[in-house]
Amino acid sequence: MQTIENENILDILLSQPSGQLIEAMKKLPGDISILGANGKMGISLCRLAKIAAEKAGISKNIYAVSRFSDKDGKEKLESWGIKTITCDLLNEKEVRMLPLTENVIFMAGRKFGTLGSEPLTWAMNTLVPANCASHYKNSRIVAFSTGCIYPLVSTSSGGSIETDHPEPVGEYAQSCLCRERIFEHFSLVNKTPTLLYRLNYATDLRYGVLHDIGIKVWNNEPITTRVGYFNIIWQGDANNAALLSLLHTSSPVNILNITGEDILSVSETAKEMGRIMGKQVKIISTGKDASYLNNASKSFDYFGKPTISSKELIRMQAEWIMNGGTALHKPTHFETDNGNF
Ligand SMILES: NC(=O)c1ccc[n+]([C@@H]2O[C@H](COP(=O)([O-])OP(=O)(O)OC[C@H]3O[C@@H](n4cnc5c(N)ncnc54)[C@H](OP(=O)(O)O)[C@@H]3O)[C@@H](O)[C@H]2O)c1
Repeated sequence: MQTIENENILDILLSQPSGQLIEAMKKLPGDISILGANGKMGISLCRLAKIAAEKAGISKNIYAVSRFSDKDGKEKLESWGIKTITCDLLNEKEVRMLPLTENVIFMAGRKFGTLGSEPLTWAMNTLVPANCASHYKNSRIVAFSTGCIYPLVSTSSGGSIETDHPEPVGEYAQSCLCRERIFEHFSLVNKTPTLLYRLNYATDLRYGVLHDIGIKVWNNEPITTRVGYFNIIWQGDANNAALLSLLHTSSPVNILNITGEDILSVSETAKEMGRIMGKQVKIISTGKDASYLNNASKSFDYFGKPTISSKELIRMQAEWIMNGGTALHKPTHFETDNGNF
């Protein structure tokens, strides 16, 4: 892939439908609602859905639902022809007013700031899923979840797989497992076809684990981490997988890990960034072997392997930072090993 020069180009690349997605759109009946659309992933996912439907030559409404606390997201989405609906998903009455669509991608969640405001995190990750699973009981639902519902595992395990028993560490991860259980419950009771999409770290260059590491290298800050390893996936691939997952929903729920092929070492990644940036890297602590690691082999069987390799993502990220690319200033806190986000 070429060097990504600006945010416009980045936004376009994050929303490129694969041939597989364009074909899938032809088979997928009905409109799509994307709930919690105004986040780091939702904006590019809404645009991807719109472009994929257009390329498939079919008419499909894409509804982007969020509170739109940041108006820029709303403006961007509307400029791309996506219908936005302002809604607080915590408010059951507001949820009941949402148009019923055959397809739903659920992305609303709360992670950071959990420590000290646990009640809001639990409400967001439990009441909101209940409101939405109940309202959209006759839809197909892909519900975003996280690899944090698994325990930290050693690199020799190859990463957690979907049949492993969840053992979430800390209240954020516990609330995410509860989010899954609520979707599972409604899927069983109402026969709602559902897929739990367990993601480990999307890379969009403006945020993500690679951004967190790269910024430290660029600013000559030492790398200290308690977690030594991680997985990543290009956000464009993660977005494609989310929409393709609509055709793999089932009752009882289907579960799918989503990430890239490799287990990456924090220290080796930092050294590679340093080599590209021409920076001396100071590693103070290499971190423990036990890390949040997803094994996404099942998703590769469904959709094929991600289109951009980890090595290429590291290069793209390093160049983005060197060229003064924008940052969201939303660190992933990937180095947290005690669940206190
Ligand atoms: N990005 C990753 O690498 C990653 C990794 C693992 C899991 N995930 C999961 O994937 C999902 C999407 O990720 P993301 O990074 O895009 O998350 P995000 O940036 O937190 O976006 C979620 C969006 O949901 C909206 N929202 C929050 N509360 C709401 C409410 N009460 N009513 C309506 N909308 C609400 C917010 O926009 P408004 O303020 O405008 O409402 C927020 O920006 C999340 O659930 C996250 O846990 C992401």
